[in-house]
Amino acid sequence: MSNALSTQLVERIRRDGPMPFAAYMAQALYSPDHGYYSTGKARTGWAGHFVTSPELDPAFGALWARGFSEIWEATGTPDVFEVVEIGPGEGGFAAAVLSSVTGPFARALRYRLVERSPVATQRQRETLKDHPEVTWVTSLNEIGRIDQGIIIANEVLDNLPVHIVEQHAGHIQEIWVGEKDGRLVPLLNVPSNPDILGFLTRHNVSLRNGSRFEVGLAAETFVRQLVGLLNWGAVILIDYGATSAELMARPEGTLVCYSSAGPDASPLEQPGEKDITSHANWTAVASALDAAGAEVIGPLGQRDILVKLGLAEMDLVLREEHNKAMLKGKGAEAVRILSRRQALGALADPGGLGGLQTIFGLKEVVAPRFMRL
Ligand SMILES: C[S@@+](CC[C@H](N)C(=O)[O-])C[C@H]1O[C@@H](n2cnc3c(N)ncnc32)[C@H](O)[C@@H]1O
Repeated sequence: MSNALSTQLVERIRRDGPMPFAAYMAQALYSPDHGYYSTGKARTGWAGHFVTSPELDPAFGALWARGFSEIWEATGTPDVFEVVEIGPGEGGFAAAVLSSVTGPFARALRYRLVERSPVATQRQRETLKDHPEVTWVTSLNEIGRIDQGIIIANEVLDNLPVHIVEQHAGHIQEIWVGEKDGRLVPLLNVPSNPDILGFLTRHNVSLRNGSRFEVGLAAETFVRQLVGLLNWGAVILIDYGATSAELMARPEGTLVCYSSAGPDASPLEQPGEKDITSHANWTAVASALDAAGAEVIGPLGQRDILVKLGLAEMDLVLREEHNKAMLKGKGAEAVRILSRRQALGALADPGGLGGLQTIFGLKEVVAPRFMRL
């Protein structure tokens, strides 16, 4: 079945020839009129196609706020400390952080969101209406240099376009997107960009015949740009990911789509109506952080980080609140607290959101306590 975006792409391919899968993925997710993340429809959270950690429970943002405060201390408690959040989704993370900070850190904190979709920005403004100090930009190019602060992106790396290569008869070939009878179809051809082979060499990737690998050139550029924006502080990237060696052990690759119908493995069908994700390559991300001048910490597991940031203590507080609500016969309140305790469990569950990992790129700061596992 075709839709407006697939019709546009078929016309473009008829005119200009096939495009590398990475160019297709960029269109499917970010084409201005029809891209999955451009239309501004809710994608994360209960109204969307998947639930992210900040949308599951404000505890995630509240715990990270403690980590932010430790990084602020490590930069010498400056009077102005900026957090820039990239791809903020529904704005729940920012709301949770800003609602939980207090004292001198709260006074120092400035919070900027990088959101490309005007419709999503409107929804974030509504979520954040009690926090008039938040400001928005539409692109990383508008940020300018951050003197002291943090740049954070939760589940953004896995949405950056990837080239896909396969090894056939001893040669690396790339997956391109062509068209046949008005339908988008995959084609194998030579790599579109010499840096694809450079990436494989840089990160010691060697493939067996028939196996597939995702090449995240866009992620490398993104990471270098983030480090370049920061003088003192931390770049924090949270995502599903694996090392190059682990990814080589997955000959089918890691690309997955999400839509209202659930997960699938058909990225060329219904472009713009489904998310397309692939695992972050931590080997490539770490070496891009390092090459850009940051000290690399991690990747560390989400469970371990949240425990360091006080997850167990937060659970104890909720348990006491739950007991009090039960004693007072406030049944609805007790159920609400119980579901928050279950959300804490889900944030740390290694089979679910707890399987996310975080990599840090530190600029001119000593790693604070919570990063030392
Ligand atoms: C899976 S959503 C994550 C949303 C949110 N961080 C959360 O955890 O709920 C990924 C978001 O990253 C955004 N994104 C991807 N690349 C971006 C870039 N270069 N600049 C700004 N946003 C970007 C997408 O538009 C999308 O809104």
